Amino acid sequence: MLNFEFYNPTRIVFGENTIQRLADLVPAQARVLVVYGGNSAKAFGTIDQVIQALGSREVVEFGGVEANPEYTTLLKAVDLIKAKNLDYILAVGGGSVIDGVKFIAAANKFAEEDKWKILEGTPLTQALPFGVVLTIPATGSEMNAGAVISYRDRGLKRSFHSPLVFPQFSIMDPQKTLTLPERQTMNGVVDSFVHIVEQYVTKDTGASVSDEFAEGLLRVLLKVGPKLKADPQCLPARSDLMWAATNALNGLIRLGQVTDWSVHAIGHQLTALYGIDHARTLAIVLPGVWEYKLEAKQAKLAQMGRKVFALESNDERELALATIVKTEEFFHSLGVATRLRDYNLGENAIPEIVANLEKIGATNLGEDKDIDYVASSKILTSRL
Ligand code: NZQ
Ligand code: ZN
Repeated sequence: MLNFEFYNPTRIVFGENTIQRLADLVPAQARVLVVYGGNSAKAFGTIDQVIQALGSREVVEFGGVEANPEYTTLLKAVDLIKAKNLDYILAVGGGSVIDGVKFIAAANKFAEEDKWKILEGTPLTQALPFGVVLTIPATGSEMNAGAVISYRDRGLKRSFHSPLVFPQFSIMDPQKTLTLPERQTMNGVVDSFVHIVEQYVTKDTGASVSDEFAEGLLRVLLKVGPKLKADPQCLPARSDLMWAATNALNGLIRLGQVTDWSVHAIGHQLTALYGIDHARTLAIVLPGVWEYKLEAKQAKLAQMGRKVFALESNDERELALATIVKTEEFFHSLGVATRLRDYNLGENAIPEIVANLEKIGATNLGEDKDIDYVASSKILTSRL
């Protein structure tokens, strides 16, 4: 097992009817910017519940954060906080709103004029405090310190990380996810699944606790994905998905492990260029990365085959290949397509995607840092 340090200060408040806990969790004197996405949080009454729980605190609303939050939109919220002299932010939504709020919190205290530098790695020294009301399980952003921001005019989608942007708390009421359309629910299953395997299907470091944790979470996802496809109103399955998705990316399962993240790096370009849902980009790229790195990942793929899919064979390579097939079949069973052609993309898209990777210098991806532009191009070609 590799050495590690673990720090995660986010308070989790999980369960039905927990939005009212905002009354205690948000500082009594706070002047709050409530940030939400398109229309779902308003339409399904969540914003009303939030405003009620915030009581007499001064509240300003900022709606319209897009899926894949847009830099230029978020800058408007930064201006609004200044203009109204606000000092606390509440994110009401999913990964996009939470990530957007992380950026707003950071940009508010960022000394330089060009706030995009946050996405280029300039370290943060301060950020506004914020909390979360989660409405869609998928990204784990409710309990981690990362955010992914898009800049559509430049065709970019980049991430930043800082311990200063851990949410102070996240309220997770699984009832709130009953209104999700099937597409978004299944996106959540696939995104969580890929978060787990990007931290687990790498090298065997002997980190048994993290391995077992990852395998258990994957088995939960294999169970709840089909369950929710058949019965979207199943609250126990909604609860399991919500907590599984958080654990998939709150830092715990990577402890002592080597991580990959090449699937996400390549996938982000597919969203930046073509607007494909985040989870679906991962479903396209993952089998390609696994096939390309079959030799290096064989041991962990075979282990996953045995312990997650209950496959049996004495041939490690056969097991590894069967795990890739099973994974793709799982995505298909959720209605998630896994080929570029399924999203109307052909061969001519590949140089464009690789050029985008070049733009951000993503030349040494994966646990062995050996996925360069040529390798990315081969991986994408295998996914036509
Ligand atoms: O905008 P509204 O109208 O609210 O609709 C949203 C949105 O269209 C809808 N939705 C959310 N809650 C709902 C609901 N509809 C009905 N009922 C509800 N309760 O769902 C749509 C998708 O929401 P979004 O927040 O975009 O989804 P998700 O949570 O999958 O977030 C995706 C973003 O997070 C980033 C992705 O790249 C993408 O930008 N990620 C963030 C990570 C992190 N911070 O750690 C890691 C991930 O790998 C990922 O990259
Ligand atoms: Zn993801």
